[in-house]
Amino acid sequence: MLSFARTALMTSILPLSVFSSYVSSLPENAQGLFNESMEWMDDFYDPRAGYLLNLGAASALRHETRSSAWYAIGLLARNTGSDVDDATKILTNVVAGQFKDPKDQWYGDYQQEPEEPTVGTVAYPAKLYNSWDPNWRGFVGTTLIIGLEEFGHLLSPEVTSLLEESLYNTTVGDTYRVGGVDGDNLYPAYTNPSLMRAFVSGWTGRRLNDSNMTVSGENYANEIITLFNRSNTLSEFNSGTYTGVSLYGLTLWAKYLPEDSVMKQMGSSMVKYTWESVSELWHPQLKNVAGPWDRSYGFDMNRYLSLLALHLWNIIGKEKSSIHTKVRTLDIDTVPTSEHLLIYSQPSVMSHSADFAYAPLFAILAEFHSTLVPADVVEKLTTFQGEHTFTSSTFSPPFDLYPRNITAWLAPNISIGAETFNETVIGGPAINPDTFNPALIQWYTGAEVGFITLYATEPSVVAVASAGSLELSYPRGSNSSIFSIIVSTFAEKKEVSAWEDVQGLTVNVTGNVDANYSVAFAGAYGGADDTINDFEFWNFTYTMPSKYTGQPHLLLEVELR
Ligand SMILES: *[C@@H]1O[C@H](CO)[C@@H](O)[C@H](O)[C@H]1NC(C)=O
Ligand SMILES: *[C@@H]1O[C@H](CO)[C@@H](O)[C@H](O)[C@H]1NC(C)=O
Ligand SMILES: *[C@@H]1O[C@H](CO)[C@@H](O)[C@H](O)[C@H]1NC(C)=O
Ligand SMILES: *[C@@H]1O[C@H](CO)[C@@H](O)[C@H](O)[C@H]1NC(C)=O
Ligand SMILES: *[C@@H]1O[C@H](CO)[C@@H](O)[C@H](O)[C@H]1NC(C)=O
Ligand SMILES: *[C@@H]1O[C@H](CO)[C@@H](O)[C@H](O)[C@H]1NC(C)=O
Ligand SMILES: *[C@@H]1O[C@H](CO)[C@@H](O)[C@H](O)[C@H]1NC(C)=O
Ligand SMILES: *[C@@H]1O[C@H](CO)[C@@H](O)[C@H](O)[C@H]1NC(C)=O
Ligand SMILES: *[C@@H]1O[C@H](CO)[C@@H](O)[C@H](O)[C@H]1NC(C)=O
Ligand SMILES: *[C@@H]1O[C@H](CO)[C@@H](O)[C@H](O)[C@H]1NC(C)=O
Ligand SMILES: *[C@@H]1O[C@H](CO)[C@@H](O)[C@H](O)[C@H]1NC(C)=O
Ligand SMILES: *[C@@H]1O[C@H](CO)[C@@H](O)[C@H](O)[C@H]1NC(C)=O
Repeated sequence: MLSFARTALMTSILPLSVFSSYVSSLPENAQGLFNESMEWMDDFYDPRAGYLLNLGAASALRHETRSSAWYAIGLLARNTGSDVDDATKILTNVVAGQFKDPKDQWYGDYQQEPEEPTVGTVAYPAKLYNSWDPNWRGFVGTTLIIGLEEFGHLLSPEVTSLLEESLYNTTVGDTYRVGGVDGDNLYPAYTNPSLMRAFVSGWTGRRLNDSNMTVSGENYANEIITLFNRSNTLSEFNSGTYTGVSLYGLTLWAKYLPEDSVMKQMGSSMVKYTWESVSELWHPQLKNVAGPWDRSYGFDMNRYLSLLALHLWNIIGKEKSSIHTKVRTLDIDTVPTSEHLLIYSQPSVMSHSADFAYAPLFAILAEFHSTLVPADVVEKLTTFQGEHTFTSSTFSPPFDLYPRNITAWLAPNISIGAETFNETVIGGPAINPDTFNPALIQWYTGAEVGFITLYATEPSVVAVASAGSLELSYPRGSNSSIFSIIVSTFAEKKEVSAWEDVQGLTVNVTGNVDANYSVAFAGAYGGADDTINDFEFWNFTYTMPSKYTGQPHLLLEVELR
């Protein structure tokens, strides 16, 4: 399962065989991304079923729909041996498993696994983001479109019509989604599925000459663009995973729609603006985007697989992205000098690694996508530009009562990022405190990336990042408010009971809180608290004294040591 990238020297010694395949026409980095992800998925392919086994490898050999669709497009791109036949089989299966009754709220969506009972039965009630996932219409729908656009010549007329019919149904089903109705949460501010919805509708309407569908896609796109135009930011702002999906969606807007589409007109500049924000927040030394993170599946991008890292792999190369690598010195005699290194790439060992299945599509889009990324952005992503601050804002109605103000400070080996918000919910628009990180510090401990992040317990926080400090206050707080601060574990310090134990960083804390704080451990095998997104951490908690003045507030002043 291990694969390796040859160093420049080795490739010059061992000439590469010349393939005139589609894959070898991709940019070098994209080829690496494509080949590694496909080799990994090949092990999971079940040819008898015509599906991939679940890539989590924790599902008793059940299969999975969405990753199978992604893999199928990779097979069309590779097109060797039985690849096209396997792709045809998978795509036919995926569409066979698409929900067919227009009366159902989940109409046109795709079943998550072929093993599941019928959604909406007594034993398997229809439950959003549980027995069915409405976002899969967009994930699978966009994938089918890439298949038709790039590899239509490999598909029979029957399969082509089947995919078109599937796209028609998925577009109709997606119009059933209205934020706030029937438990759904698809508002235009829910950026990643919104972008995919507008695209699939706009593309399918044009393909099938259904002008209502075309217009519906354009109108929805305009709602997203209106939000974006406020400050040239995505509403779902700065997320290792979802900025990756949004950049994918915007690339589809720019690549596959005609000039008369507002998505074509705006897609390129939206990609550019988004990368400009990312390039201010990406810390090349820490290989993480600075906070705030609206939705994150981990506290250190070096330890979980983020989709943003797959884009970075394409743009600046795998070793500069946050994908896990293991460097080994070669010790075999046949190699002329010991300077040769093998860089083992092991994305699959990272948390959230199942997202690596998206890689073939990112590789297929890479060449076009790269044309939208300005040269100065590539430079900032590659080499730390030095100490700087970043301010911006974004808006996610109806959850935000006013736009979120974003501040960040980045300096050598450290970043601090925060956003001020007043919302109708706790935990961000996704209502998930485990993924919402509105105030965050990251630094290099000397051994790894450390983190200090506020666990959201309040609907409103004023959070401001500036040079060496993070200021927090709770406008709607009370004497029962707490500040729960998640602090990383440290390889060289197994016991942590006070701020003095934090490695590589001096942390001074002041505020109108009770000066006593508690420290508890969240461990995989024990401790008072549970891990979050697979990360173990120390939980520093402050409570309020019975008498205090003003709003609950806390100031963290930090310095590398
Ligand atoms: C990727 O695989 C193709 C064959 O499928 C090969 O021609 C190409 O050299 C490989 N590229 C890299 C960067 O490994
Ligand atoms: C599309 O939906 C119709 C009902 O409107 C259904 O009869 C048909 O089988 C569906 N097609 C696919 C490919 O699922
Ligand atoms: C859509 O219209 C174009 C131009 O009139 C035509 O060539 C094409 O066959 C039509 N497609 C469908 C699916 O009706
Ligand atoms: C398009 O919308 C109009 C007005 O809502 C409706 O009358 C018509 O049937 C729709 N056409 C299609 C093909 O859905
Ligand atoms: C968004 O801004 C662009 C560029 O300023 C402008 O051309 C476009 O009309 C705006 N669109 C919307 C929906 O606000
Ligand atoms: C956000 O920033 C803007 C511009 O600096 C300022 O006018 C506004 O009051 C700020 N909003 C909040 C809630 O802090
Ligand atoms: C940042 O970390 C690197 C690597 O350990 C070290 O060489 C450098 O001195 C550090 N810089 C600062 C400002 O701490
Ligand atoms: C925050 O929201 C609450 C609840 O809607 C409201 O009472 C308060 O005025 C808002 N605060 C600000 C500063 O907008
Ligand atoms: C902190 O806790 C200690 C021991 O429980 C206690 O003696 C002390 O009074 C507390 N201090 C404050 C400020 O609450
Ligand atoms: C941290 O500990 C406090 C106090 O026990 C608790 O209320 C809070 O939920 C914990 N936070 C996390 C993220 O586990
Ligand atoms: C907390 O505040 C409430 C209402 O303001 C008050 O009734 C209560 O006594 C306070 N509790 C403590 C422990 O101070
Ligand atoms: C922390 O407090 C100590 C003692 O007051 C002071 O010497 C130090 O400069 C402070 N450090 C920071 C980062 O604020």
